[in-house]
Amino acid sequence: MRFDIITVLPGLLNSPFAHSILQRAQKKGLAEIVVHNLRDYATNKHKSVDDYPFGGGSGMVMTIEPFALCIEKLKGERDYDEVIFLTPDGVTLNQPIANQLSIKQNIILLCGHYKGIDQRIRDLFVTREISIGDYVLSGGELPAAVLVDAVVRLIPGVLSDETSALSDSFQDDLLDAPVYTRPADWNGHKVPDILLSGNTPEIEKWRFEQAVERTKERRPDLLK
Ligand code: ADE
Repeated sequence: MRFDIITVLPGLLNSPFAHSILQRAQKKGLAEIVVHNLRDYATNKHKSVDDYPFGGGSGMVMTIEPFALCIEKLKGERDYDEVIFLTPDGVTLNQPIANQLSIKQNIILLCGHYKGIDQRIRDLFVTREISIGDYVLSGGELPAAVLVDAVVRLIPGVLSDETSALSDSFQDDLLDAPVYTRPADWNGHKVPDILLSGNTPEIEKWRFEQAVERTKERRPDLLK
């Protein structure tokens, strides 16, 4: 699977993909993540990628030309399943959306800044608009990193069977049960006896009950 991320701040995306599971996925050849500097596609001599909004108002608007040139160049090289614009007024990212995206081949992510991007970019190129939550960030780069992380960990072979993404919270509309590790007794704070019992069916039953309890308490909206 390949992600092409178009941004004015490519440096902001150096680190998120260079560690842990995302780094491993790329090394194994299961994910390719390519970051493009939007400024490389600016045609004016100041390399500017934004301008004043028509009709007045505060803030700058990102112009269509550099986005169009970059997207068209990429589309000339391969077919894309989706062109996603990260924006607080998009559909909120959740596990079913991450699951849907994880079976795609090639995805372009557009990161906005300033007051927004020219509406024509959204009308002409964008196939989906995704938000990572009801709060406003300074740009789409961190949301793009969040989306890539949520999706890449679902690609078969990225996680070992043991840590399979299928057992994640939200995959079955249940939050995870609490987990513990050594020591079994820390200053009198003990691990639940059941987890030390070696009785696997009883442990599974306990975990399920805990997951249901936690979901009822914290996210009753997930329980249908
Ligand atoms: N850009 C700025 N804020 C955002 C958000 N919450 N989700 C996606 N993109 C954004």
